[in-house]
Amino acid sequence: MTQVVLTEIHGKVGLIRINRPEAMNALNNEVVDAIGAAVDAFEADENIGCMVITGNEKAFAAGADIGFMKDFDYMHAYKTDFITRNWERIKTTRKPVIAAVAGFALGGGCEMAMMCDMIFAADTAKFGQPEIRLGTMPGAGGTQRLPRAVGKAKAMDMCLTARMMDAAEAEKAGLVARIIPADQLLEETMKAAATIAGYSLPVIMMIKETVNRAYESSLNEGLLFERRVFHSAFALEDQKEGMAAFVEKRKPVFKNR
Ligand code: HXC
Repeated sequence: MTQVVLTEIHGKVGLIRINRPEAMNALNNEVVDAIGAAVDAFEADENIGCMVITGNEKAFAAGADIGFMKDFDYMHAYKTDFITRNWERIKTTRKPVIAAVAGFALGGGCEMAMMCDMIFAADTAKFGQPEIRLGTMPGAGGTQRLPRAVGKAKAMDMCLTARMMDAAEAEKAGLVARIIPADQLLEETMKAAATIAGYSLPVIMMIKETVNRAYESSLNEGLLFERRVFHSAFALEDQKEGMAAFVEKRKPVFKNR
């Protein structure tokens, strides 16, 4: 049986590939559970400092699997805690996750990419929230994360008309961090992930947690949180090593402590 999610470890980077090419990587329970299991494994592995989630050249993911959910009723969706039960493992991991998106990232696929800490887009990437065409609405964060990323005007436009945004527009609007030629997408994303993973793991996690606070709090609360975490960073052996290495003009050796 083909595995719907493939994982690889490259140095300190954990790579997760969604592998349902016959269905444009549509996301069903099996796929989302397997992504969650991969995140669990990479989270538990002290050697891993960053994760990358990708699809194939045609699709990151064209949404939640429509056949899988078409006959759900309210009680089933509610009792099984559809979405919250397993999709949000990507959100809860303390290590950074980069979405490397080529081709379609639609519906739940766009929402999954937005759950990641940043999106690197191939020049072929197309983002959209076309659920309205199916008589439903975004339900994995699209109505909340898209306005925060691109502003209310473009988010309303995308969710209400179902139009897609190409990579250039997505970068201009702030949805994606970088645009990369499609044939170099994975290589360049893995390079950036390796750069991140080469730093001190506790510092990586502190920065991720603190940047995320910007979304959850007022500016003053966020600044206070930053200051407390920043002060605590002086307790790290890696801070002593990093600054000593700079002064001594050598490369630091971080021990994740
Ligand atoms: C199930 C899907 C699928 C999906 C594509 N496929 N998207 N199957 N769920 N979301 C399947 C097609 O049925 C087809 O299978 C095969 O993948 C190839 O797709 P085609 O349509 O033949 O390819 P193409 O003409 O290139 O069009 C690509 C596409 C189109 C533009 C991405 O497939 C499309 O519009 N897909 C649906 C996108 C969508 O509506 N996403 C939102 C889903 S709702 P066969 O067997 O025929 O070859 C959602 C809810 C989120 O995500 C809320 C909570 C998660």
